[in-house]
Amino acid sequence: MSGQLAMVTGAGRGIGLEVARGLAARGFEVLAGVRNPARMAAIPGVTALELDVSDEASVRRAAARAAEGGRRIGVLVNNAAVLLKGDDAILNLETGQLRQTLETNTLGPLRVAQAFAPLMGRGGRILNVSSGGGQLSSPSTWAPAYCISKTALNAVTVQLAEALRPEGIAVNAVCPGWVRTDMGGAEAPRSVEEGAAGILWLAVEAPAELTGGFFRDGVRIPW
Ligand SMILES: NC(=O)c1ccc[n+]([C@@H]2O[C@H](COP(=O)([O-])OP(=O)(O)OC[C@H]3O[C@@H](n4cnc5c(N)ncnc54)[C@H](OP(=O)(O)O)[C@@H]3O)[C@@H](O)[C@H]2O)c1
Repeated sequence: MSGQLAMVTGAGRGIGLEVARGLAARGFEVLAGVRNPARMAAIPGVTALELDVSDEASVRRAAARAAEGGRRIGVLVNNAAVLLKGDDAILNLETGQLRQTLETNTLGPLRVAQAFAPLMGRGGRILNVSSGGGQLSSPSTWAPAYCISKTALNAVTVQLAEALRPEGIAVNAVCPGWVRTDMGGAEAPRSVEEGAAGILWLAVEAPAELTGGFFRDGVRIPW
């Protein structure tokens, strides 16, 4: 694994930061996609790369920077996401709020995958950090814009998995569970380490041929 490059979006805090740390501890050289590189904590093996996933030009610039060394990216973790204030009732949901959520949570991972897949080779892995809230198999009324964005992200995952199968690049969705972060809140039962564990498993240990699935804690879950 040593010397492989990994790219993690939204890596400045929360689960993304822990995934970046975990990949570095496993020998990856990690590019940490962050909106403000000056705020990124210094971690051995982790280099901040300016990236706003909702901004097409920013994604293109980040991919160009990542390509500079001419090295292949082994792992891409699409982790960045938002859960906006007031996202609490589908019947009052403003389409502007839904659009803003989709822009980051669904179109963000899609545009990052489009820009970074050409930098990956056979055996590469793309992980889209999704949520149980996006499962159509377990409906709820909680955070409709966020949940819709994650359902759509799951659909993006399946499409990317099929499109990249011939290239030997695996694409999966992964749910970290309910985790104590700014997004998850203080009462969540899982630590960031526990939330990151299933993501790191899929990034490093899972069989390379696993693609087009949705996982939590190393177990396939329904869409
Ligand atoms: N926490 C949970 O219980 C839970 C449960 C299920 C799924 N998830 C998923 O797990 C992932 C990480 O969540 P978290 O709890 O760690 O969230 P978090 O603490 O709120 O962190 C979100 C991260 O996303 C970044 N981000 C937001 N918009 C961005 C943009 N436009 N461009 C680049 N980065 C952006 C933030 O960067 P800034 O610092 O610049 O704002 C931050 O680093 C998300 O995909 C989330 O949906 C979380």
